[in-house]
Amino acid sequence: MGKPSYILGLTPMEAWRIARHTLPFTRNAPAWTVMELMTSPKHSRGIRFAELLLRQEAVAARNMKRQPISFENRRVVEIGCGPLGGFGPMAIFCGATQFESADPEWDDGLFFDPQVVEYYHRLHYADLVSLFGKRLGFDEFITTMRERILVKRTGFEKAPIEGQVDVVLSQSVLEHVFPVEDTISKLSQIQHPRTQILQLVELGNHYPTANPFEGL
Ligand SMILES: C[S@@+](CC[C@H](N)C(=O)[O-])C[C@H]1O[C@@H](n2cnc3c(N)ncnc32)[C@H](O)[C@@H]1O
Repeated sequence: MGKPSYILGLTPMEAWRIARHTLPFTRNAPAWTVMELMTSPKHSRGIRFAELLLRQEAVAARNMKRQPISFENRRVVEIGCGPLGGFGPMAIFCGATQFESADPEWDDGLFFDPQVVEYYHRLHYADLVSLFGKRLGFDEFITTMRERILVKRTGFEKAPIEGQVDVVLSQSVLEHVFPVEDTISKLSQIQHPRTQILQLVELGNHYPTANPFEGL
């Protein structure tokens, strides 16, 4: 999408968020507010992570021999899960023993804010039940997320995520990390030969270059 159509497609709240991150007096305010997240057409839909995963699994199944990603009893890591835990709630709902992530925009207080619990997690939970069956009650879902989701507010490359992990995911992050080498090096430290990986990148040009692949 070109810049003009991107700007014209923003909701008033999205436009305000961009403005407040640009204005000198509000530039250092928190990355996200509950209102911005809950009115965001993108961030308010937790189920988009399941849609992304299931779509990629379907594409992969047509083109290669590969076991679908499983979260059951696995240790799961996501690079840059975003403000609402990305693939984390689905991973926990589907039986992950631990979900860890690092994102410079993470805010612990937002994830369990009462409005986020009632609006975002409850809707997301209903969608997860429809897709995967009633594996947990809602209260148990929230309690299990409190126990098993661990996100650090830092770049992934510096995060205290050590040892071997079973599943590594990211969605629209690797194309935002400059330079990407430290992230790749961190990834190589935590993967083992049977680690399942899904790194989704959006191939629009996020670099200040004429060609999105220049220097990659
Ligand atoms: C386009 S957003 C995608 C967020 C989320 N994955 C999603 O799909 O909603 C890019 C994310 O990358 C995060 N990010 C930027 N640099 C990072 C780094 N070095 N390590 C981890 N996350 C990073 C940003 O804070 C932001 O949340």
